[in-house]
Amino acid sequence: MKDFIYSYPTKVYFGEEAAKKALPVELAKVGKTVMLAYGGGSVKRSGVYDEICGYLKEAGKEIVDFSGIMPNPTYKKVQEGAALAREKGVDFILAVGGGSVIDCSKIVAAQAANDEDIWEMEFKKHVYPTAFLPMAAVVTASGTGAEMNNGAVITNEDTNEKAGVLGAHASFAVLDPAYTMSLPAKQVISGAFDTLSHSMETYLGSPRDINLSDEIGEAVMRNVIRNIRVLMKDMNDKEARSELMWASAMAENGILKIGKVTDFQAHQIEHQLGAYTDCNHGQGLAVIHPVLYRHIYKDGVAQFARLAEKVWGIPAENKTPEELAEAGITALAEFVKEIGLPSTFTEMGLTDKSVLKKVADTCNLTAGCCKKLSREEILEILEECW
Ligand code: NZQ
Ligand code: ZN
Repeated sequence: MKDFIYSYPTKVYFGEEAAKKALPVELAKVGKTVMLAYGGGSVKRSGVYDEICGYLKEAGKEIVDFSGIMPNPTYKKVQEGAALAREKGVDFILAVGGGSVIDCSKIVAAQAANDEDIWEMEFKKHVYPTAFLPMAAVVTASGTGAEMNNGAVITNEDTNEKAGVLGAHASFAVLDPAYTMSLPAKQVISGAFDTLSHSMETYLGSPRDINLSDEIGEAVMRNVIRNIRVLMKDMNDKEARSELMWASAMAENGILKIGKVTDFQAHQIEHQLGAYTDCNHGQGLAVIHPVLYRHIYKDGVAQFARLAEKVWGIPAENKTPEELAEAGITALAEFVKEIGLPSTFTEMGLTDKSVLKKVADTCNLTAGCCKKLSREEILEILEECW
């Protein structure tokens, strides 16, 4: 175990009527003017918007609508939100949506409370904001776990970067699986794959010896795989949706990362692919993971072999550790096909192969995984993904 300090600022209200339990109590603690941040309109169609507005009005709040937060939120949208928050004297931000809405709100919360440009501050000066407007999250699409961390993934269109920016933590999070029921099946599955990806990228970090966090991670991964399979039979299975919603938060609330340096190389590649193509996050990861792992597993055979045995349930008998590790990667690739996610960038609908070099040249290289890749190797991986 590496040394660690652990505390958690987000209070979670999970389950049926979580908003009804959370909002009257929590809104009583915040200022009068509340920014209601949401996406392209799914919350209006599902009725969640009206329900949340009802709680806000009952609590006597003035509502400042901030709508149109797009998937893969842009830094321009962050600036629009921050300007609006300042203009209207917003006291509190309530983000209602998936990872994109929550992420955008985290950085609006930071920018609205700081005069300095947040991007410049974090990426040029390496200084991180300490003042934020307070905020909370009502989750309508699970998978990213964005509600339980202060990292936000924002696309800066001026610099062609999709990067992790540090922002506000939600002071509370509302996780009602019923709010996810209107999510299209494709998004449900790509979101759940994102959770699997977070768990794998954490597990395959260092140190390579197994620790308690890894054993909890194995349970999360088995749970995600099992529940995706339940949903493939019945997309409306509430119990499976609910398990996946908590697994999503568990993979990103820091518990699996305790005592570890995480990997996240697949994410770094996918984020830059997103910067150039605006592709769906979970789908991009589904393509990249098996190819990336085939390239690196020989440098981390023991970890990959354990993952194959404990998560994919592949018997170790009569196999060398290398064969076992390989079988685990094959199981992952077959799972991607089984659950209807793409296995190539062409299946994802990408058409311009010239982006691959740009992605390889600009993505972050991580130090946590068993093999530090060169840009040439990343390009090779990306070309194999085509
Ligand atoms: O915009 P609306 O109309 O709300 O539609 C959204 C959007 O089109 C729709 N949706 C959400 N809830 C719905 C719904 N449609 C019907 N019913 C509902 N209940 O789903 C679409 C996708 O939403 P989005 O928020 O983009 O999806 P997701 O939650 O997968 O978030 C993806 C973003 O999160 C980042 C990704 O890079 C990407 O930008 N990530 C954030 C992380 C974090 N903060 O910890 C970690 C992840 O690794 C990830 O990078
Ligand atoms: Zn992710």
